[in-house]
Amino acid sequence: MDSKIEQIKKTESPPKVLKNLFNKNEIDKFLKLYNDLPITVHNKKQNVIKKRWLQGYSEELEKIFCERLKKEIGDFKMDNLQDEKGKDIFGLIQESYAPIGLHVDAGFEYKNQIYKQSLIPLSPIGSTVIFKNRYYGGSTTFTQDPEELKKKNLGYGQNKRSSEHLSMFGNSPFDKKIHEKYLKHEKIENLKGLEVELIYEWEVGSMLIFDRSHLHCSSSVIEGKKIGIATFTKK
Ligand SMILES: [Fe+2]
Repeated sequence: MDSKIEQIKKTESPPKVLKNLFNKNEIDKFLKLYNDLPITVHNKKQNVIKKRWLQGYSEELEKIFCERLKKEIGDFKMDNLQDEKGKDIFGLIQESYAPIGLHVDAGFEYKNQIYKQSLIPLSPIGSTVIFKNRYYGGSTTFTQDPEELKKKNLGYGQNKRSSEHLSMFGNSPFDKKIHEKYLKHEKIENLKGLEVELIYEWEVGSMLIFDRSHLHCSSSVIEGKKIGIATFTKK
């Protein structure tokens, strides 16, 4: 096997939910940070507002976040995109009104050894579905939609589109009950061969940490909107 993938696999571990990691005051500071940051993308079709967690808006939160993450996962480097000045960003804050489809955040640069990603919910209702299935071919949105699959001119930080997953994980149909309860926004055929590892029910104050090779998506359970901070690391 590819030695890069072997290296990545050595650092893999089960997803972990840390409860009561952030107190009310810290969550309020995260929400203030979210309000203060400039909008990066307002995708009206997907109904999502994306903001980059730029450095310098809250050194206190940057420090708290890095310390607490390090305590759980040991040494890491940030692997988020860079801003226009070439400065690293801490993550992406997304305000979404519609669920995000099946994808993997496995990185934009092959030379990087992807490690863990984290998710901090800033709103109470929502869930994230992590599948057992893994992928090591870079950040990818998995779809059968021919219009999506045609998209080749991707911008900086955009996932490639692929249906490769359908030939990777076998032909077992996906669990109908889980589909009905959590994944109605995905065609059940697009989930063929997938098995659920964990359904993370959002709880403000908690944080989810999982390997970047895991396929995942948000669940269809949204009341109005949800806001979450996603951060990506490498070794
Ligand atoms: Fe993701």
